Amino acid sequence: MNNKLTLGIFGFGVVGQGLYDIIKTKNLNLAIKRFVIKHPDKKRSLPAELFTTDANAVLDDPEINTVVELIDDADAAFDIVSRALKSGKNVVSANKKMIANHLEELVNIQHQYGTSLLYEGAVCGSIPIIRNLEEYYDNELLHSVTGIFNGSSNYILSKIFNENLAYATALKQAQDLGFAETDPTLDVGGFDPKFKLAIVASHAYGLFVSPDNILNIGIDKLGAADIQFAREKNYKIKLVPTAREINDKSVILYVLPKLISPEHILYNVENEYNGVSVKAAFADEQFFYGKGAGGHPTGSAVLSDIAALRYGYRYEYKKHIGAEALAYNTDWEINVYLRYDDESLIDQLGFSSISERYYAQEFKYVIGRINLTNILKNRTSVDREGIFIAEITP
Ligand SMILES: NC(=O)c1ccc[n+]([C@@H]2O[C@H](COP(=O)([O-])OP(=O)(O)OC[C@H]3O[C@@H](n4cnc5c(N)ncnc54)[C@H](OP(=O)(O)O)[C@@H]3O)[C@@H](O)[C@H]2O)c1
Repeated sequence: MNNKLTLGIFGFGVVGQGLYDIIKTKNLNLAIKRFVIKHPDKKRSLPAELFTTDANAVLDDPEINTVVELIDDADAAFDIVSRALKSGKNVVSANKKMIANHLEELVNIQHQYGTSLLYEGAVCGSIPIIRNLEEYYDNELLHSVTGIFNGSSNYILSKIFNENLAYATALKQAQDLGFAETDPTLDVGGFDPKFKLAIVASHAYGLFVSPDNILNIGIDKLGAADIQFAREKNYKIKLVPTAREINDKSVILYVLPKLISPEHILYNVENEYNGVSVKAAFADEQFFYGKGAGGHPTGSAVLSDIAALRYGYRYEYKKHIGAEALAYNTDWEINVYLRYDDESLIDQLGFSSISERYYAQEFKYVIGRINLTNILKNRTSVDREGIFIAEITP
């Protein structure tokens, strides 16, 4: 089956334009009928009649059978995507925040209306991880999916560790290069990789977990003392989301900075690159490496989804069918490095054991084992200035 697709595309920003650049180089059986944008007065590189600010011009057009949603507003995106799916149009989106926050509802809408929503570009840009988890690893017992899912924070960390830049200088550079937003909280606070992790968990383990219930601590509280500590022990720090099956009933999910030694597979993933490590019972470890963001890398994943719609591809969410077997759990101990300012926090967090402790006027830290539930419960006490927490291999 190779159906002709007529596209309505929402958004002509970094990804929308990247997608257009790629489409125009190919002779595909598809036509772009309209772009919907927000600001009508912005100068565009294409004829004005291709653009509208009226969403209905696409959503109510019976000739448009495929909607591509590439806007930067998650609430508006959910309205657009759910309306399109309900009106019989298939959709491709790269909006991880919107998808992670509404995934279960979007799956139900697809089942109810017989339409398809694909979103490879939402998770790690050009890296084809979703369709692989869905199809290739359909019958594999997946031990874990981890990696570097956020190019902006990885860029900042690379500049800090490889070029000795201060955190603020590295962040400014990432912003100047367009890798980080003016408000970088979603990236450096670990929210963006958490949204991606929630989507990954769904395709790896058949779980719907609200991002609100997943721990995310970012790199925004990283201080000079932590950097020095890591350097002296020959570590780099990376921001690492983890999905891991801890027994045949439970899966843990969290995003934390992690102290990584040179032999670790993520050690050399630098700058805006992403890496995804999949550990499975029979395939063992496989590693996907590529550009996690940018107009062309993300546009390429979006185009792959559009092309898949031509032959009727849809995610079947097969793992959700047998999903009673697995549940999301936070009752699991991990080993952490914690820089702190107030001794009472150590008691509050309830470490089960402490293997190393350093105490000086300016720099205090402990390394020890702590239950994820305790970190989640004390999230606001831990995610503040004066504190930095990172996972560390025992
Ligand atoms: N940038 C990346 O590398 C990357 C990678 C992976 C995924 N994504 C995701 O892809 C999506 C787009 O990101 P981007 O970087 O391309 O954003 P962007 O450069 O800021 O562009 C956003 C586009 O959306 C349009 N827009 C905003 N609100 C709208 C609305 N309510 N109706 C219609 N159009 C609207 C804007 O219109 P105007 O042009 O009129 O302002 C603009 O064209 C986001 O969900 C993002 O998370 C981005």
